[in-house]
Amino acid sequence: MRMARADDRLGVLLQGMGAVSSTVIAGVLAARKGRGRPVGALSQFGRMPGQGDRPRINEAVDLTALEGLVFGGWDIFGGDLFDACEHAKVLNSRDIDAIAPELKGIRPMPGAFDPDYVKRLNGTHVKQGTRRELAQALRADIRGFMAANDLRRCVLINASSTEIYQEPADVHQTVEAFEAGLDADDHRISPAMLYAYAAIMEGVPYANGTPSLAADIPALRILARAKGVPTAGKDFKTGQTLVKTVLSPMFKARALGLRGWFSTNILGNRDGEVLDEPDNFKAKEMTKLSVLDSTLEPEVFPELYGDLYHKVRINYYPPRGDAKEGWDNIDFFGWMDYPMQLKVDFLCRDSILAAPIVLDLALMLDLAARGGHADVQSWLSFYWKSPLTPDGEVPVHDLFQQQDLLYAALGAMARSTARLEVA
Ligand SMILES: NC(=O)c1ccc[n+]([C@@H]2O[C@H](COP(=O)([O-])OP(=O)(O)OC[C@H]3O[C@@H](n4cnc5c(N)ncnc54)[C@H](O)[C@@H]3O)[C@@H](O)[C@H]2O)c1
Repeated sequence: MRMARADDRLGVLLQGMGAVSSTVIAGVLAARKGRGRPVGALSQFGRMPGQGDRPRINEAVDLTALEGLVFGGWDIFGGDLFDACEHAKVLNSRDIDAIAPELKGIRPMPGAFDPDYVKRLNGTHVKQGTRRELAQALRADIRGFMAANDLRRCVLINASSTEIYQEPADVHQTVEAFEAGLDADDHRISPAMLYAYAAIMEGVPYANGTPSLAADIPALRILARAKGVPTAGKDFKTGQTLVKTVLSPMFKARALGLRGWFSTNILGNRDGEVLDEPDNFKAKEMTKLSVLDSTLEPEVFPELYGDLYHKVRINYYPPRGDAKEGWDNIDFFGWMDYPMQLKVDFLCRDSILAAPIVLDLALMLDLAARGGHADVQSWLSFYWKSPLTPDGEVPVHDLFQQQDLLYAALGAMARSTARLEVA
């Protein structure tokens, strides 16, 4: 497979321009001016594994440079990205003011919204119409953004509010049923699915940073394969789950047993407010709970992990804003079943941890598309709480196994690019 070159520019469309999206954009703009380092992004700081001279990832594979990124997107509230940064209160005003003209030049397009899916928000900057009309309008937005910025390539990342928990229904099963559902304005087609559909139809790689049901429904999986579009998801693995997928393999590696794992969080940003609603929290709870079954394999080690009680809570607590605090209480046991405890208190910054993931995903999904890869990109599992996989492939949650998958795929793409250069 010949790898097309990155050339100079890549569009990055963001569904939802809140705390995470405004932090990514501000960070890239600041880095271009030498006013902030994109720390946490493997695409900027990572090096290929091996001995001796280890090239940077962005030297080994052909990734678009930060200077070449063009940002756009949608939100259900108006204003510009300067307003979004001020509202999010992630970055301090000195950092925001330094890039104010650029931030003021980026304005979200009106969002495709349904308040039944995000119960705590009342969007004022929204498109009107049936689901078919909304899907057509989103597709037109993508084409318009690319034309206005003279772009040949673009990716779309969902960094929007988490929608309510939903199980796939018949309208989500086939492309025909989904298309009929758009025509019938079927309420079971969520806004997140409309954006995913629009991206896939426009041949734009799509990633879902939220727990919402979107490109992972069977209809859109089939469509992405048919259109040759790479997808990835879901729910950025940034804080507590990142730690969980490092600690749980440690217990298993040492054959230490686990009785209980209680994870709780306090969080005061808009994401925390949305997740305070039980139906929206349920979607997050499902992605957060799924990891331990995979890393611990209780079916293989029933005497160590068969009786584990795993509980996850998120509490909306406005004074903390984006500075989330996550506690883990782990009840484990060792020699002669003697009980022990491990406590983790993670004082993190949600969007500061999520921003480098968005940047890496944008660059790597584009790399996948240029390499001709379609369907779910499981080599990007490293970035997800709930990694999606192609049919029949078991998801991997252990962070270091995920890292191996990532580097193996990057290594293969680096070799194919090297062959291209020699030819
Ligand atoms: N560490 C992290 O920050 C982290 C980790 C994992 C997942 N996530 C997920 O990423 C998402 C974004 O997080 P955030 O902190 O930026 O939240 P946020 O509330 O600050 O931003 C979300 C934005 O989406 C907008 N929105 C809602 N519905 C929309 C729609 N239909 N179309 C367009 N815009 C819409 C909201 O107005 C808001 O501005 C959330 O779903 C969150 O659960 C975040």
